[in-house]
Amino acid sequence: MNELDALVQSARSGFAQAITPAELENAKAQYLGKAGSITELMKGLAALSVPEKKSRGAAINLAKQAIEAALNERRRALAQAELQAQLKAEALDLSLPGRQRGSGGLHPVSLTLERIEAIFGSMGFELAEGPEIESDWFNFTALNTPADHPARSMHDTFYVEGGSEQAPYLLRTHTSPMQLRYALAHVKRHRAAIDAGAGMPEIRVIAPGRTYRVDSDATHSPMFHQCEGLWIGENVSFKDLKYVFTDFCRLFFESDDLALRFRPSFFPFTEPSAEVDIQFQSGPLAGRWLEVAGSGQVHPNVVRNMGLDPERYIGFAFGMGPDRLTMLRYGVNDLRLFFDGDIRFLAQFN
Ligand code: DAH
Repeated sequence: MNELDALVQSARSGFAQAITPAELENAKAQYLGKAGSITELMKGLAALSVPEKKSRGAAINLAKQAIEAALNERRRALAQAELQAQLKAEALDLSLPGRQRGSGGLHPVSLTLERIEAIFGSMGFELAEGPEIESDWFNFTALNTPADHPARSMHDTFYVEGGSEQAPYLLRTHTSPMQLRYALAHVKRHRAAIDAGAGMPEIRVIAPGRTYRVDSDATHSPMFHQCEGLWIGENVSFKDLKYVFTDFCRLFFESDDLALRFRPSFFPFTEPSAEVDIQFQSGPLAGRWLEVAGSGQVHPNVVRNMGLDPERYIGFAFGMGPDRLTMLRYGVNDLRLFFDGDIRFLAQFN
């Protein structure tokens, strides 16, 4: 092997040993750099005769081209290897299962509210919502609740800043103010027809929502839910209340094996008034009377506050506790579980 072939071979193996681009550039300098072997050989040409220069020069050039070709080939190989390494490092394993987001679900009380809305909706009741910060007038006065009524006590009610002493604001203690808010808007829409004696379409509405009282134990929470119901027309009687509420309870609990009792009671805004108790005929709660709502025929003073003539318009109202209904439906014995936010408890309902 001549000296030039040996040089090319040594360059090839030197390049092959370089495993990074930087090492390769260093190896290149040994052959093609300013002080590299090829450059040195070129310098040696100066001492040769013209014909010798020609043939020697051509041979050196061939060797140089071979070394450059080897260099470029190695460069490509290293770049390729680098790309492969990068692709491998950044590879996504598309066969891995994705990270689960965890499926959410509705709170048990929300499930109850949806159920109440669906059942009353099927009976032709509208759905209304109202403010949780309420005026003293809507919460008490308009509902025929006199100034000395115990429900107005500081011990029962959260008063909030902003109102005057005569007209304080408070967190509504029940959903009953929605009777007035809804009825007033309804009557306003039909005022002309009512005044002309043509009458108005019946008021038939439920109003679910949050309510507040200063109260806290296993069966009372300072924030709780109520759902108000109101049906006012020219011919709506206590019989309709019994029918509607009985139907509701049977649909809600999915049982015809359910007794209802309307126990005489007192509310300022109804006369007569009744507490509604239910009794399961089978299951763990069988035999016990359980209170689920207050109800009654809307008091003439309240009908008057709605802007209607109590001689012509009459109806019933009820207020029930969705929290209580949820406890009964699912057999939950501590109301506070609904508000602890413990996912192990809540997940059971979905
Ligand atoms: N608002 C009453 C309460 O919170 C419940 C109630 C009783 C609502 C009788 C009514 C009703 O609409 O007619 O205790």
